[in-house]
Parts: sequence; structure tokens; C-alpha cells
Amino acid sequence: MDNVNLTDLKTFRENLSRFMLSYKFAIKEIETKINILNDEFKFIHEYNPIEHVSTRVKSPQSILNKVLKKGLSPSFKEMKENIRDIAGVRITCSFIEDIYKVCDLIESQHDITVIEIKDYIKKPKPNGYQSLHLIVQVPIFMSDRIENVCVEIQLRTIAMDFWASLEHKIYYKYNKKIPKHIGDGLKEAALQAALLDRKMEQINHEINILKEQDNKDDDYLTSEQIKKYLQFLSFSETE
Ligand code: GTP
Ligand code: MG
Repeated sequence: MDNVNLTDLKTFRENLSRFMLSYKFAIKEIETKINILNDEFKFIHEYNPIEHVSTRVKSPQSILNKVLKKGLSPSFKEMKENIRDIAGVRITCSFIEDIYKVCDLIESQHDITVIEIKDYIKKPKPNGYQSLHLIVQVPIFMSDRIENVCVEIQLRTIAMDFWASLEHKIYYKYNKKIPKHIGDGLKEAALQAALLDRKMEQINHEINILKEQDNKDDDYLTSEQIKKYLQFLSFSETE
């Protein structure tokens, strides 16, 4: 191998590292934003809309496979413009309404640009898959430049995640077209998962109404509590 090739190789390796790093940083940015939103939400509403968050950066091998599948030229510029799921963030929420709340909160962040929303909850995929997908762009501040980087955010409930994880495993294990009755079974399971989500949401609403009622009742102090409170005040004054 001559010197020119070695230099090319070094430059390529450096460019690849920079390319991959920008997606790692984008994920960190989004993760921090999500954590702040979650903590603030918890503080104000005494309630946590997010169950858990997972992230991944696509491996260079998977990126290359997608480049070939899509018939793109393997340049960094082309990959950056056309492959928008190199950085992935998956947010699992407690209830369906939380998904839309978290989505609104993400959308309202000034430095995030929402490029695309695919609502597979309102319109599930033919196989039954449900989730809310966002493609967003987030600026990454580096020492010598600012880069806008795409991140795919998938929002789903625990039930949707349960279904999608198992369905993915089935296809992973069985790389051929699955028999019709298995496809029908999976679709039926997706419907059951959606029913479970709605049922849990309804129970949660009822509990919230009861909790609100309890809080209202707590607004009225009993005469015993008033007596104690007055005693406490007069005690504090004499001190
Ligand atoms: P890709 O090119 O594969 O990324 O798909 P797309 O450009 O059509 O995007 P889409 O938003 O439909 O799906 C993107 C991602 O959502 C996938 O990479 C999966 O993580 C997830 N996903 C989409 N459809 C399904 C599905 O039917 N089953 C499961 N388990 N996951 C899915
Ligand atoms: Mg994908």
C-alpha cells in the first residue's frame, strides 16, 4: 500500500469517526432534553409520563446495508441526507395520552425541528404495528462548527413495545414470509394490546378523579386540626 492510499485511509477513518460521533452527540442532546422534561413533569404534576428510554446508533455495517438497499452512493453527505434513523431514541410511556403529551413537549423545544411525524397509533400498520414516529433535527455544537443531525424518535406504550419486540424477534428468527394464520394471530395480539392500553388509560382516569376528590376533601380542615394549628401559631409567637 503506498503513502497516498494510507493517507486516504486515515482521512476516511477520521471522517467516519466524526460522522458517527455526531449521531452519538445528537442522542445525548435528545436524551438530556427528555430527562429534563420528565423530571419537570414529575415535579409539577407529581406524575411520571415516561417509563423508560433506550437509544442506539446504527452500526456502520447496517448503514452500509441500507445505502445499498436504497441504491444510494456511499458518501457521508448522501448518508446524512437520506438515512434518517442512524440515531434512534425509543421512549416508552405509561399511557397513550402521555405519548402525545411528550410529543408536544418535544415539538415545542425551540432548537428541535420536526421533519416528519408518522402516527401508527391513529393508523396502525397492516400487520398491527403501533407507535408514534418522529424524525427530528437537533443542532450539535462542535469546536469548529454547528451540525444539524437527524434523530428518529419512537414513542410507544409498554403494551405496544411488548408487541413490537416480540414481533421483531419472530421475524428475526424466521426470515421467510410467515404463514397467514401467524400473521393473523399477531394482528389479533396487536388489537388486544391496544384494548389493554385503552382499559389502563380509563382506569387511570378514574383513579385521577378519585385522587382529585380526595385532595378537595383535604382542603377542609377538621376542628381538631384547626385547634392544633392555632396552638402551633401561638406557640411560635411566644418564642
Ligand atoms: P426503515 O427504512 O426500516 O427505517 O423504515 P421506514 O423508513 O419505512 O420507517 P418506519 O417509520 O415505518 O419504521 C422505522 C422503524 O420502526 C423500524 O426500523 C422499526 O424499528 C420500527 N418498525 C416499523 N414497522 C415495524 C413493524 O412492523 N414491526 C416492528 N417490530 N417494528 C417496526
Ligand atoms: Mg429503521
